[in-house]
Amino acid sequence: MKNDILLWDETIFNHVEVLELDHFPEYFAHRDKQLQALKYSLRPAMRGMRPVNCLLSGPPGTGKTTAVWKVFSEMEEYGGNVVFAKVNCQMDSTRFAVISRIYKKLTNITPPTSGVAFRKLFEKLVEHLVESEKVLVVALDDINYLFYEKHADEVMYSLLRAHEQYPGAKIGVIAIVSDTGRSYQFDPKVGSVFLPEEIDFPRYEYNELRDILANRVKYGFFPNVVSEEVLDQITGYVDRTGDLRVGINLLKRAGLNAENRASRTISIEDVEKAYESSRLLHLCRNIGSLTSDERTLLELIARGEEAQTGDLYKSFHETTKLGYTRFFEMVNKLQALQYVDADFSGKGKRGRTRIITPRYQPDDILKCLH
Ligand SMILES: Nc1ncnc2c1ncn2[C@@H]1O[C@H](COP(=O)(O)OP(=O)(O)OP(=O)(O)O)[C@@H](O)[C@H]1O
Ligand SMILES: [Mg+2]
Repeated sequence: MKNDILLWDETIFNHVEVLELDHFPEYFAHRDKQLQALKYSLRPAMRGMRPVNCLLSGPPGTGKTTAVWKVFSEMEEYGGNVVFAKVNCQMDSTRFAVISRIYKKLTNITPPTSGVAFRKLFEKLVEHLVESEKVLVVALDDINYLFYEKHADEVMYSLLRAHEQYPGAKIGVIAIVSDTGRSYQFDPKVGSVFLPEEIDFPRYEYNELRDILANRVKYGFFPNVVSEEVLDQITGYVDRTGDLRVGINLLKRAGLNAENRASRTISIEDVEKAYESSRLLHLCRNIGSLTSDERTLLELIARGEEAQTGDLYKSFHETTKLGYTRFFEMVNKLQALQYVDADFSGKGKRGRTRIITPRYQPDDILKCLH
């Protein structure tokens, strides 16, 4: 029996759970500043005071959700008269659903889904809060999903002004925005009571990504399954966008590929294949992290009507009103992120001109954009 062949009842995975996206990581590094700012803002709640509201923003996969969950669970352990309610606005995407979720956390009772008006339910929620003399801290995660039809404004407004109508109501809000450049302005009525501590989650740098992934490798696999070279390769893929989820998912899929061919180690090809097979998933996630102007430009390129820089700029300028410098920067960014090729052609009408073409199937790009 050759030593590098995996037997049918053997595995290269050790603690598989650390390679799942919903795993709550024990090792949560490179976010000390953000964790500190969050704790500092929420600390007053532990003493029965209204906490400082927070606005967390940053690109996808930069640890926003995890940071809030970490601080919540730490503070919950301390006890105190505080209720921490987490709302995933992607799942609870109406103002009624949001308030129901909080109501349930506070009272342990699931409110009826119909026949109750939002106002009425909200009133009950606040009455309960005042009577119990608790402080309520609400995390509205992925609040961007409430940005349509003013749901976000109404939820925020209700929570933040509750004390005006119900003296003694103590509510703090943590709004979490996965910012893709399409920045949202809350209604001025909300802005004047929100006054948040703004906590920024920048993209991780290459070394930080590598360090976090190395930790997953250490627990997720048995020793020597993932070489330094393979870890570099995976980090390189992740560094294209900075979304850690891509890396965690790649580790798992590359591991499964290795096992499929009964190998004790993950090869460069295993990773390439894993990246390829989840190509669209990554592509869509990555495109989601572009700003809206960059998306407009990418869409024009994918539609392929104007490949020459001059014509492309004209269309781009018409839609966005942005000037040539910004256009030029964006072309370079799309090229750097490997969405497009921008090569000089020898034979443009007016001499040398740049031809810009998508590097992915245009249909794939358009699918992700819509
Ligand atoms: N500093 C870190 N250390 C270890 N794991 C991390 C770290 N940051 C993020 N992760 C992991 O990366 C994944 C994405 O993190 P998280 O869900 O917190 O990102 P997010 O900023 O909320 O993204 P989105 O904007 O898409 O909601 C999770 O699986 C999380 O465990
Ligand atoms: Mg999140």
